[in-house]
Amino acid sequence: MENVLIIGATGQIGSELTMLLREHCGNDHVVAGYIHGAEPKGALAESGPSECVDITDADAIAAAVKKYKVDTIYNLAALLSAVAEARPQLAWKIGVGGLYNVLEVARENGCAVFTPSSIGSFGPGTPLDHTPQDTIQRPRTIYGVTKVTGELLSDYYAHRFGVDTRSVRFPGLISYVAPPGGGTTDYAVDIFYSAVRGETFRCPIAAGTFMDMMYMPDALRAAVEIMEADPSRLVHRNSFNVASMSFDPEIIAGKIKELIPGFTMEYAVDPLRQSIAESWPNSLDDSCARNEWDWKPRYDLDAMARDMIEKLRVKIGKEEAVNAL
Ligand code: SER
Repeated sequence: MENVLIIGATGQIGSELTMLLREHCGNDHVVAGYIHGAEPKGALAESGPSECVDITDADAIAAAVKKYKVDTIYNLAALLSAVAEARPQLAWKIGVGGLYNVLEVARENGCAVFTPSSIGSFGPGTPLDHTPQDTIQRPRTIYGVTKVTGELLSDYYAHRFGVDTRSVRFPGLISYVAPPGGGTTDYAVDIFYSAVRGETFRCPIAAGTFMDMMYMPDALRAAVEIMEADPSRLVHRNSFNVASMSFDPEIIAGKIKELIPGFTMEYAVDPLRQSIAESWPNSLDDSCARNEWDWKPRYDLDAMARDMIEKLRVKIGKEEAVNAL
């Protein structure tokens, strides 16, 4: 991994992964690919090169790859699950058409490719608890359909053309930096904003609905470590289950209450998100990732919640200070 192009660099994962990879590979070696209307700002814009790279435009991807002699592409462009249900055609165009463009450019230019998959690649027929690495994947959401298609297409390019494609199935990602948008697991981020602001959180997911979640620093490390893993040890490629914690709204609310005693939550269940959440696993078995590339999470629920609250207090405090001017 010498010269990296990140497509979707200003999104939920990209805005943090770009900064991490710039530390890792050198600022000038990591290109932040963005779309019009989502230009990089602040440190992301100032710390290294950026290019307008719309994933639906294969020529733009190829031009950036050639200009920066890119050898690794992180393909982070996607519509998240709930928003994708409102725009399924666009979700397919980005998730599958976009991936096809990336894979073709990678095939022609000898690039490795990371494309995240998700707990959303599973569906109602999948075993819900300790979901195995290799199991039934019949999702009912367009998001899940694009993710399963992406896993298959990425494996096809690896086996047929020798493109070095690798991936992990991310759980819901929790971070204090860039907010997610339109996902089913977003409640686990929003709840912290409400708690730190002293507001009552209206939870769109019902009590008792368990999903895998992960703190962003672990997710970023997974995205880097899988691309640096010894390929001779990899039995799987697209895509590895990775896990660190699983909870339902009651458990996360209880943890937050422990740290912010005045915190309150009420339920306002969103039927779309609830039906999606019910079709996803309760908890993944990530033993293949642990065995094949030594994956190991560092944050459990307690460590994540403490860090989130501490960091969000600083972030929201700064915002309030600016607004008060
Ligand atoms: N966080 C995603 C979503 O909720 C799942 O990968 O859509």
